[in-house]
Amino acid sequence: MEEILKSGKARAIGVSNMRVKHLQELFKTANTKPMVNQSFLNPSDMQEEVTKFDTENGILNEAYSPLGTGKIFGIPELQKMAKRYGKSVAQLVLRWSLQHDFLPLPKSVHAERIQENAQLFDFELSHHDMELIDGLHGVAGLAQDPDTVGF
Ligand SMILES: NC(=O)c1ccc[n+]([C@@H]2O[C@H](COP(=O)([O-])OP(=O)(O)OC[C@H]3O[C@@H](n4cnc5c(N)ncnc54)[C@H](OP(=O)(O)O)[C@@H]3O)[C@@H](O)[C@H]2O)c1
Repeated sequence: MEEILKSGKARAIGVSNMRVKHLQELFKTANTKPMVNQSFLNPSDMQEEVTKFDTENGILNEAYSPLGTGKIFGIPELQKMAKRYGKSVAQLVLRWSLQHDFLPLPKSVHAERIQENAQLFDFELSHHDMELIDGLHGVAGLAQDPDTVGF
């Protein structure tokens, strides 16, 4: 991947599902730190240890399953809060992701939802509401351990 970067065929190279110990191992031999680490990140699991480490090392936290693969839609606290902001639950959670400086990567097969998921820049979540969402740990599943899960 470093050779591809050097050749100019890619402008950025990155990794996925790496935890701190994996990145530390990679740093021993890599000449270039990954620009991105794509991880399972949503209100149900913020993976504080690796996201902090990524940020300290200039690695962008790209959030996969930012909607908990659909599981976050059933959470009453998020439904109530989204109503208060006049936004959908998807927009609320994606805005939360952006305000944490994550890069959310939502998936939808519906054009109108793809458009909805990009309309995130006309509102801002208060500090208090960010903390409320941060407190939802575990409500819609947790990241799996990359050392043991079969991806
Ligand atoms: N690196 C990795 O190991 C890894 C692992 C898992 C996933 N990913 C990537 O991460 C991306 C997203 O993850 P994901 O698919 O697990 O989950 P996600 O984006 O958290 O959730 C997708 C689900 O939410 C629904 N949805 C999306 N927008 C919606 C909206 N505005 N309103 C209502 N429902 C909405 C989708 O349904 P519809 O499609 O029917 O709209 C789908 O069921 C994918 O591109 C995937 O490739 C990477």
